[in-house]
Parts: sequence; C-alpha cells; structure tokens
Amino acid sequence: MTGEGPHAPPPRGSLHPEGADLAWGGPAPDRKAPEVEPLRTTLPEGLVNLADHEAYARTVLSPQADAYFNGGAANEFTLRENVLAWQRIALLPRVLQPMAGAHTRVDLLGRTLAHPILVAPMAYQRLAHPHGEMATALAAAVLGTGLVLSTQASTPLEDVARLVLAESARGPLWFQLYLQADRGFTRELVQRAETAGYEALMLTVDAPVNGARDRERRAGFTLPPGISAINLRGLREPDPVALRPGQSALFDDLMTHAPTWDDVAWLRSITRLPVLLKGITHPADARLAVDAGAAGLIVSNHGGRTLDTVPRNRHSESPGPGRHCGDGGSSRPAWVDECGCRRRRACVATPA
Ligand code: LAC
Repeated sequence: MTGEGPHAPPPRGSLHPEGADLAWGGPAPDRKAPEVEPLRTTLPEGLVNLADHEAYARTVLSPQADAYFNGGAANEFTLRENVLAWQRIALLPRVLQPMAGAHTRVDLLGRTLAHPILVAPMAYQRLAHPHGEMATALAAAVLGTGLVLSTQASTPLEDVARLVLAESARGPLWFQLYLQADRGFTRELVQRAETAGYEALMLTVDAPVNGARDRERRAGFTLPPGISAINLRGLREPDPVALRPGQSALFDDLMTHAPTWDDVAWLRSITRLPVLLKGITHPADARLAVDAGAAGLIVSNHGGRTLDTVPRNRHSESPGPGRHCGDGGSSRPAWVDECGCRRRRACVATPA
C-alpha cells in the first residue's frame, strides 16, 4: 500500500519508460525494489509477432512459471482446442473496395475505443518480470488497449490505477473480481476498486474453485516468496464445516461459498460500476445474465485452465443476447477481426 493510503485520488501517472514512477508508490511489505536490468527501449532481436514473444518468454521463465502461465486444466484438451479453433479461421477478403474512412473503433460501455482489444486478467504477473502488472498496464495504456486487472494481481490495484488513469489515450480500466467467501472482504475490495478509479467489474463465474492443473503439479508450481495476491491480503479463509457422515467436502463445504445468481444481484446492489460476467458459454446462462442486469458477457472457457473438455472457444457463435466479448488464444489480428465480426464488441486477449 502506498503512503497516501488506498483511498487517495490517483495523481497523474507517468507513462514514460524512463520515468521514476516505475518505483510505484514505495515499498510494500512483500514487495522488494525490482532488481532488474534497466528498462528496455527496444525489443530483443527477432521478435516480430506474439508467437515470437511466447517462444522468447519460454527461454526466460522458470519452468514453474512457464507451467503456470501456459498450462491448462487436466489433459489440456480444451487448451489445445482453443488454439486450433482460432487457427481454423479463414478470412475471405473482398478486393478493390474503397477503404477511406475505415477504422477499428468500437463503442463499449459508453466509450469509443480506438480498437476492440483488452488485456485479459492474468494473475501473478510479477512471476514473469519484477515490473509485473505495472509494465503490462503501461504498455496497454500506451497502445490504447484496455486492461483488466486480476483479483490475483501481484501488484496493488491502486498502484496500477495511479499509473495509467490520467493517460488520455488509454483504453478502459476494469477490475476482475473473484467473489470471496468473506462477502464483507469482497465488498471492501469492490469499494477499493471503485475509489481507485476502475470503470467496470468483470465477475468471473466459471472458476468457483481452482482448476486441476496437471502441468503445474508436475512442475511443482508454488508461488515464490515475495509474490502473492497482494490485493487479498488480510482475507481469512472460512472455517471448515464439520461434515456429517455422507456429506461431501466439495458440495457441502467448499462449493457453499461459490457465487450464485443471487450474488450477482448482491454485487450489483453494492456498486455503481457496470458488472460484466466472464465465463459464460451456455445460451441459457447468457439469457440469465441479461435478466440479472449484466452489462456484458465475456464468452470464455477460462483459456481451458479451469475445467478440461469444455467446448473450445465459441468464436463462431453467439451464446445469445447481450453484449459479448470473446476471450482466449486470440493472438493474431485476424482472430480479433473475427471476434468483432461475430456480433462481439471486443476481444479480451490472452495467450491461451
Ligand atoms: C487462472 C486464474 C487466476 O486462470 O484465473 O490462473
């Protein structure tokens, strides 16, 4: 937390790579000053597209972090299918058309965006680099790309907001929310996000419990010292339920804390921010989401990271009514284009 406290209005951030703001707000108890080489102003040679970046990342990430960022649930059938589904898309261009006045703008939640891309919520980005979410936020803002900060970010949400909010060319700044068993804590987290200047909440509804990530387990992934879900600091785990014979530890204990449609109503009642639901794939759920007053849907299978064997990303179909954003594996411009063509408003881009 910064010296000004979490509720101080965000001052103008610096978006210049050489700016001192990358020391963002002073040390927090589990953050060390970044011990890194000076910020790059050029890319390593040979990095041309996102696939190049992905291959390069594998040479610098620890095997554990690589398993965390790139792995999916169980046998990774859905993870592989997601990527294949995008690769199967073929464009059929029309030629010799006048292009004057063409643009990539899109209207989303009352704003006109320069293009329809948002960076999806990704946890623990300081596993990849000490600058973590701050560097991602900086890059996104410079490119006019929206940013969705994860509840499990490894950087205080106020620091990220302070860095980018005053940047006029930035895209939307949204906060991804995991509803915690402690609803009082959840309410405070929502209030922190509002006060810090986040413009929408993206409630993840497809991951009430962590996915069984076999690749992570094989690699022995655990969070290293100094990296944590810092915005959840102080959260108390619920006491385990004393189960009666025949009761299930999953359904009668763990899942009793999982969000339900009633919680969507509750969340809407405690915030003035629009609430989007992330992880909708079934048409019936899309209808329920609209009835529940969701401001939008993120059509997503969580990058194949939560439940294996769910259908691949449904890039070619709309799940039903409402504003939709696609998610997962959309790392080529043509795929973003496809997202837009199929009645989607935007594309929430993750590597998988
Ligand atoms: C994941 C959680 C953080 O996919 O959403 O790892």
